[in-house]
Amino acid sequence: FPNPHEPWAQDKAELHMHLEGCLEPDLWNKFQRKHSYLDIAPVTTVTYPFTDLSSFLAWRYQGDRLLNDEEDFFDLTWRYVQRALDNHIVYAELFFDPQAHTARGVSLDTVMSGIIRALRQAEQRYGWTARLIPNILRDHPLRTAEDDLAHLEAYGDWIVGVGLDSRELPYPPRLFRHLFDQVRRKGWHVVAHAGEEGPASYIWQALDELGAERIDHGIHAMDDPVLMGRLKIDRIPLTICPWSNKRLGVTTDLSIYYKLFHEGLVLTINSDDPAYFSSYLNANFELISPYFPPDALQQLIKNSFVASFRTDF
Ligand code: HPA
Ligand code: ZN
Repeated sequence: FPNPHEPWAQDKAELHMHLEGCLEPDLWNKFQRKHSYLDIAPVTTVTYPFTDLSSFLAWRYQGDRLLNDEEDFFDLTWRYVQRALDNHIVYAELFFDPQAHTARGVSLDTVMSGIIRALRQAEQRYGWTARLIPNILRDHPLRTAEDDLAHLEAYGDWIVGVGLDSRELPYPPRLFRHLFDQVRRKGWHVVAHAGEEGPASYIWQALDELGAERIDHGIHAMDDPVLMGRLKIDRIPLTICPWSNKRLGVTTDLSIYYKLFHEGLVLTINSDDPAYFSSYLNANFELISPYFPPDALQQLIKNSFVASFRTDF
């Protein structure tokens, strides 16, 4: 049970959470039975033997295939809303991967209506709010990204930005320059996963060629002192995901986050794909808390609002 006296038991925003990453084992198995023709095996919490980003994504994309109708997307999103309430999250900017679904013939209207029905219900019942950030999958054809983004304009009120995810190598951000020119022209914010498994140069490209306003992960910034200066001076937030990094072998040294913080970077703490890492947001704060003095933990919580795309915090 959560301890109400823990310093992170207070209002927070979450900015790096993939809705498909909320497919907890019971939901996986429910959809596995419901769509049994797919021939996907059931899971238990201990089934996932991934050790790095690619082996994790193989599981994640298998799980994505279980999401097929409006109700699946509703159930998935509603699960996050419940976990958010448990984790003192009052606002979230939620990632989802349109191409993971449209590539299988699931319509974006199905995806969006399930997600939006859950978000509307959360707002009505609890006053809980979220906005959406569709991510472009680096390893899918650019053409399908363009089609999906054109379709998503109809859902403009729900969408605050567009991001970039999936395995980084060998897909440098500059391959998506033209696409993100269009994104910015539509008036959407830009974020990008970079510097998780890719090098610091991918973070430079995300900033200078895509116009990224936040960097998701960004751990490899620490390899480049000039880049560290840029992130600090321009106050570009990094959305850090400690349990994800630990499970995917991105770092074994949990003291690096405080070093980045101490250098003056704007860090936020996030859960990434919480069902797969068995860790929602508060568990991520708990993991790093031995390395952060109390006032620094407070600053991380403040940063979650400051780094969001909402302007009324
Ligand atoms: N990195 C890249 N792609 C992803 C991630 C991640 O951490 N989570 C879900 N898709
Ligand atoms: Zn992520």
